[in-house]
Amino acid sequence: MKAAVLYEVNKPLVIEDVSLPKPGPREVLIRTAVAGLCHSDLHFMEGLYPHPLPAVLGHESAGIVEQVGSDVTYVKPGDHVVTCLSVFCGTCDNCSTGRTVLCTDTTVKMLPGVSDRMQWSKPEKLHQFLNLSSFAEQMLVHENAIVKIRKEMPLDLAALIGCGVITGYGAVVNTAKVTAGETVAVIGCGGVGMAAINGAQIAGAGRIIAIDTNPAKLQLATKLGATDIINPADGDVVKQVRDLTNGGVHHSFEVLGRKETAEQAFAMLASGGTATIVGMIPFGQKIELHGFDFLRERRIQGSSMGSNHFRVDMPRLVDFYLRGRLHLEDWISAKLKLSEINEGFANMKAGKTLRSVIVF
Ligand code: APR
Ligand code: ZN
Ligand code: ZN
Repeated sequence: MKAAVLYEVNKPLVIEDVSLPKPGPREVLIRTAVAGLCHSDLHFMEGLYPHPLPAVLGHESAGIVEQVGSDVTYVKPGDHVVTCLSVFCGTCDNCSTGRTVLCTDTTVKMLPGVSDRMQWSKPEKLHQFLNLSSFAEQMLVHENAIVKIRKEMPLDLAALIGCGVITGYGAVVNTAKVTAGETVAVIGCGGVGMAAINGAQIAGAGRIIAIDTNPAKLQLATKLGATDIINPADGDVVKQVRDLTNGGVHHSFEVLGRKETAEQAFAMLASGGTATIVGMIPFGQKIELHGFDFLRERRIQGSSMGSNHFRVDMPRLVDFYLRGRLHLEDWISAKLKLSEINEGFANMKAGKTLRSVIVF
């Protein structure tokens, strides 16, 4: 099969011939239908986050089950599935208390350099990425890294649910647990931020403020549920939010991954408000807060993959889409071939696209 390989940071991906072995007892071989390009892939391509190389990136995908291992009962060949990088064991302390995204059991995860399953003709090891490696025509994954979905769901939109949608929606619904009437601000309206906005609308938020430097993104945010929009070009973002909300929001979401915007998220809170950091702030970077704000019971927390329980959340998101409550139809800006993948990342960097997807 063909796969897009990252050999070095800040270098284009290269299409190579790669193969996968037969599934192990709890593994599932999937024919990749669609893979979304997510900003997190770009963070790794730019070296902002470390990963052993060469590797096949990609972690937002949907496909069709081709073959299952001897112990797999959850799916059968022909089933449509969404993948999820937060593979879980189901029995460690975190899984047992419901926090499956924080699963600590490394035996279900592909450890780079230890349990990678991809093979090729070159002597160096080819590393799998986040238990998935979706920029490839096939994926070999643990059965607890997939969720079965209804066949009516278009696979291109299903792929988006696997990372961007669950990450933004889950941050609002699962991590922050936004309740009806609360005020919400979302900084960064890319794919993930849009899902946070749409999630806030589903949760019944009273006011949803979209913040982005790109006017086109702000326009789309309004369609997805934003009640107010703010462009940092129009002046101090924190002041603009405070003016709109009579002093600050109940919930802010940083969906960009930068120190300055994480600090803004905390500073725009009302007393008692909570900032949820979704974006991947460059590895090793610290953020600064005013200690006094803790006396006002302002909180700040992280959210990983929308604190998902993906076997529950993904089918719900599919239903939300099919019932017209999750507006994924506006998400896909471009459908590309695997050979056009570098073009897709260039467009992401230039801020031209909401989501580009590779259709296999
Ligand atoms: N203030 C507000 N918005 C900004 C700013 C800024 N200073 N600078 C850029 N933006 C906007 C861009 O215009 C774009 O719409 O942030 C958005 C980022 O969107 P994408 O590049 O599409 O990123 P996305 O895939 O949504 O991921 C966002 O979430 O999961 C993490 O790793 C991911 O850190 C990344 C973040
Ligand atoms: Zn576990
Ligand atoms: Zn992602």
